[in-house]
Amino acid sequence: MSVLSLSHISLTYSGTAQPVLKDVTLSLSQGDFISVIGRSGSGKTSLMNLAAGFLQPSSGQVSIGGAPFTGPGPDRAVVFQDDALFPWRTVVENVALPLKLAGVAREEREATARRWLAAVHLEGQEDKHIWQLSGGQRQRVGIARALASGPDFLLMDEPLGALDAMTRDRMHELLLQLWAQSHTGALLITHSVEEALFLSTSVVVLAPDPGRISFQESYDYGRRFIRGEDPRALKSEPGFIAARERLLAAIYEKEPA
Ligand SMILES: Nc1ncnc2c1ncn2[C@@H]1O[C@H](COP(=O)(O)OP(=O)(O)OP(=O)(O)O)[C@@H](O)[C@H]1O
Ligand SMILES: [Mg+2]
Repeated sequence: MSVLSLSHISLTYSGTAQPVLKDVTLSLSQGDFISVIGRSGSGKTSLMNLAAGFLQPSSGQVSIGGAPFTGPGPDRAVVFQDDALFPWRTVVENVALPLKLAGVAREEREATARRWLAAVHLEGQEDKHIWQLSGGQRQRVGIARALASGPDFLLMDEPLGALDAMTRDRMHELLLQLWAQSHTGALLITHSVEEALFLSTSVVVLAPDPGRISFQESYDYGRRFIRGEDPRALKSEPGFIAARERLLAAIYEKEPA
């Protein structure tokens, strides 16, 4: 089992004086589902870009299984907020593209792409073009594409932010099923406290200026959903509601008047 570690990392963008992230330590194991939540500008996307290897920390270390990394790799897949798909290519071509770049033969990459498209309930849509899909369907293509290459870690930056509430609830259940099925370590950036709480084994709150971890707590609602419990019943438990209040208090503490 692999572990992605951020150890005492700080990040200052070039040309700026203030650090965006300061002394952040976070460990994501396969089988974990960690959500990062915090006010706009607190450094969530920067943190995900460090974990993905798109950015290097100014100090501290990023490593996988104890080995430092300095760039992106096939062990980490990223789902972006804007779906980042190729609109003129078909659904199956989009999902198969990273496999193509990795040198996987056509038949195998198409079969893998179709399998993951079925897993995200897009069978029958494989030969459509991206522009023919709804927002929720596009996000599912993005998730299928990320999982098709068999990553150890799935890094997601507000993948569901643009979806309506009902689609979003269905996506939560699908995400949990895919996470359990793929044995990945998931890192989710979100603005939704309820989403973080329902999905995650652990929620991290980033406080801004500079971005740092101000609160972290573990939960088991997602695992209980996977074991068959009803999502609406879980979300109305007193423990869930109390945890939501603690998270909100942690996010909004010291909010300027
Ligand atoms: N490439 C960059 N160069 C300089 N500053 C940057 C760069 N990218 C982000 N920043 C700054 O770093 C801070 C954190 O940005 P980041 O995008 O990580 O925040 P965020 O928590 O993801 O915000 P949001 O919730 O709005 O997506 C902001 O002040 C932003 O202006
Ligand atoms: Mg962001």
